[in-house]
Formats: sequence, structure tokens, C-alpha cells
Amino acid sequence: MNNVIKCKNIRYSYHDGDRETPILSNLNFEVSQGESIAILGQSGCGKSTLLNLIGGIDKPSSGEVYIGNNDLATLNEEKITELRAKSLGFVYQFHHLLKDFSAIENIAMPLLIQGINKETCIKKASQITKTIGLEHRENHLPSELSGGERQRVAIARAIISNPSCLLADEPTGNLDAKNASSVLELLINLNQQHGSSLIIVTHDEKIATKMDRVLVLEGGHLKAA
Ligand SMILES: Nc1ncnc2c1ncn2[C@@H]1O[C@H](COP(=O)(O)OP(=O)(O)OP(=O)(O)O)[C@@H](O)[C@H]1O
Ligand SMILES: [Mg+2]
Repeated sequence: MNNVIKCKNIRYSYHDGDRETPILSNLNFEVSQGESIAILGQSGCGKSTLLNLIGGIDKPSSGEVYIGNNDLATLNEEKITELRAKSLGFVYQFHHLLKDFSAIENIAMPLLIQGINKETCIKKASQITKTIGLEHRENHLPSELSGGERQRVAIARAIISNPSCLLADEPTGNLDAKNASSVLELLINLNQQHGSSLIIVTHDEKIATKMDRVLVLEGGHLKAA
């Protein structure tokens, strides 16, 4: 199987006491190695929820999620965290950098979590800061960076462990046109040069046209655009 991600008959509802909010139903989704995919859909349709299921951050109400050949339902939290750190790179809708850590420490974090020695992690992070043009901001805290710089740090953190798939949730949503296009270029380069699959959730049709496939999340499942 060369799918890096597979979702089979996913259903997902949020529960709050007796209230059930169904979000996803009958959702099927397969991502091949190296493929780039845009996911479009109205606000509130469940795009971020879907990414959380793929990342094992949340569990489907029913159905199966595979990362490579691993069925997430068969793994404990520790194994899921390890698999996520090795195989997936997340760029969140709001960058979620750790505020007390410098840019370079934030970038190195996925490797530090895997128990790799700090010197090796920082060295690798330092190589990446050059490719994203932030070597002069390595020791700045997130609060001392611009919005575009923070998003580039978040992308660097997502790619440091050479993940087989990058998941980006509106990575350019909060950026001006210039920063948005440099962030997009960075993601597309990674996809093309390193063969990482790329899933971008976006409201921007221009970004969508640069991807191999465009899907729309509507009525709880994904359809071709
Ligand atoms: N903890 C929760 N409890 C109940 N409902 C929730 C919860 N979290 C999210 N929702 C609802 O689930 C729906 C899907 O949310 P989600 O964040 O996945 O949407 P989205 O497609 O990413 O939207 P956006 O484009 O605005 O980011 C929304 O209607 C939201 O109100
Ligand atoms: Mg969202």
C-alpha cells in the first residue's frame, strides 16, 4: 500500500451532555505518497476536525484512520504521539508556537520530543532556519516575530523530521499577500523536492489550483471540486 493516509467510512460527532453535533459522515479519503491536495469548504464544515482525526489528536466516532499501514485505533497514545512526530508535520490554523521557547527551539521541538540529543536537534534546526530566511531571528521568542515569521517557524517545525505528509490548516490565512506567497512556495517546494504529501486546508482558490487534486468538504464528506 503506498497510501500515506487513508480514512475509511469516518463518522464524527461532538458530544456535549445530551447534545450531539454531527460533523463528518461517510467520509472516505486516500492520500498517495507525494500527492498535493487542497481541501475547501465553508467555515464550520469540519476541515480542522478532519485534520485532528488524521493526526490522531482526536478519534472518529466510527470508521478507520491509517497512517501508512498503521490503524490508529490499534495504537496507544504513546505510539500515536511517536508516529505523529515521525510521519506527520502539522501547520495549525493558529501557529501554536511555544511562547517561552526561541524560534530555533520551537523548530527543533519534534526532534527533541523523540529523545534525539539537543545538539543534533539544534544543528538541524539551524540548517532549516537558513532555508526559510530566518537565521537572523533564531533566538527570538515568538512574541518578537512578525506574523509571517511565526508562520515560517511553524512550517520549519512541521518539516524538521522529514514527515511523509504535511497537514496545513489555512497556513496563509493570517498573512499579507507577500508573506502568503513565500509560505506557499515553501510548502510546494517541500512537496516537490522531498516528495512529502501535502494537504492544505484553504479558502483561497488560487492556492487550490496549484495542487494535484482539489476536494470540497460538504455535508460531512469529501467530494471532488
Ligand atoms: N468542542 C466542540 N463541541 C461542539 N462543537 C464543536 C466543537 N468544536 C468544533 N465544533 C463545531 O464543529 C464544526 C466544525 O468545526 P471545524 O473547526 O472543524 O470547522 P472548519 O471547517 O475548520 O471551520 P473554519 O473554516 O472556520 O476553520 C463547527 O460548526 C464547530 O462549531
Ligand atoms: Mg478550521
